[in-house]
Amino acid sequence: MTAPVCHILNGPNLNLLGTREPEIYGAETLADIEAACRAAADAMGWSIRFAQTNAEGGLVDLVQAAREATALIINPAAYTHTSIALRDALAAVSIPKIEVHLSNVHAREAFRRTSHVSPVVDGVICGFGSTGYLLALQAAQTLAAARASR
Ligand code: DQA
Repeated sequence: MTAPVCHILNGPNLNLLGTREPEIYGAETLADIEAACRAAADAMGWSIRFAQTNAEGGLVDLVQAAREATALIINPAAYTHTSIALRDALAAVSIPKIEVHLSNVHAREAFRRTSHVSPVVDGVICGFGSTGYLLALQAAQTLAAARASR
């Protein structure tokens, strides 16, 4: 049996984690987060595909490419608040989907409280820093198991 596959997608400016506003986003780099996700996925018996792009269309392509995966975790970064294209791409993908934000977007500027993504995903994890990605992997496993037993 092949291992379940989770795509973990990251939007604009997340390549700068570690140096980008560390008081908000923490000191860990995206490579650190990827390594932590890989270790957690290994322990679950899952494999992951981890990707980042600054381009809106590139993120749409990555969402489409995840169509056949077991689950999808996405931190859409600023496109969360702006992108109908990303929302539509996610709506077209019917696997379990989890939206993640490092920061608590509800405790920040008002424009960050609007997410075009939240209505078309299974759930949202925000405000727990990089731990949010690991919580999302647990959620992905739970959602995938629930679907498998349907
Ligand atoms: C973010 C929150 C977004 O509002 C912001 O534009 C980001 C990162 C987060 O992970 O906290 O780039 O998605």
